[in-house]
Amino acid sequence: MPKLPTVIAPSLLAADFARLAEEVAAVEAAGADWLHLDIMDGHFVPNISFGPAVLKALRRHTRLPFDVHLMIAPVDYLLGAFADAGADHIMVHPEAGPHPHRTLQAIQALGCKTGLVLNPGTPVAMVEPMLDMLDIILVMSVNPGFGGQKFIASQLDKIAAVRSLIDSGNRDIRLEVDGGVDPATAPRCIAAGADTLVAGTAVFGAPDYKAAIAAIRHGPA
Ligand code: DX5
Ligand code: ZN
Repeated sequence: MPKLPTVIAPSLLAADFARLAEEVAAVEAAGADWLHLDIMDGHFVPNISFGPAVLKALRRHTRLPFDVHLMIAPVDYLLGAFADAGADHIMVHPEAGPHPHRTLQAIQALGCKTGLVLNPGTPVAMVEPMLDMLDIILVMSVNPGFGGQKFIASQLDKIAAVRSLIDSGNRDIRLEVDGGVDPATAPRCIAAGADTLVAGTAVFGAPDYKAAIAAIRHGPA
């Protein structure tokens, strides 16, 4: 499978929560490909963000695919709520429950694309038994829970290992990276094999969203 063009998915976590619809419209106009939505429950991760009601309210304000990253446990009973709210991709951590394969089946049954998320301390082997069910593998380059953290460079080897796994099976799976991605770290992720980059602070914290997205996609101007 040839490497796909790089997708940029700004994370709403770093947006101005008092102006969410405007912020989404601004990144869409600035060239974002997907909108990354970080859902945190204060239990699986030590922070709380927002839930399906916010997705539902934003759904009519944008055509961007909703790339939903669930950092919640248990997760299964809420999958339907996120699908109903407009999620296009639903990504879960394998540690969120005892039956990740069943969780992926449930996501597929809801008509959404599936993703598994690898924490910095989670081995690549966690995804291997479920490769045939995956549309996305998301490699965390920070520990989940907060935006604005420092990129953990040791995850570049994991990105390369996941790239080999995808290519050796000739699979149609996107390889997404999340955490500390900016114009300096993005080229390292792409060189390691990533084709999809999440960026919160590096987009919403920048004065010019269009320039920020272009710099992450193509490197600093
Ligand atoms: C962290 C989230 C990330 C976060 C990225 O738990 O999964 O998506 O918003 O933020 P930055 O790009 O600021 O590291
Ligand atoms: Zn995320």
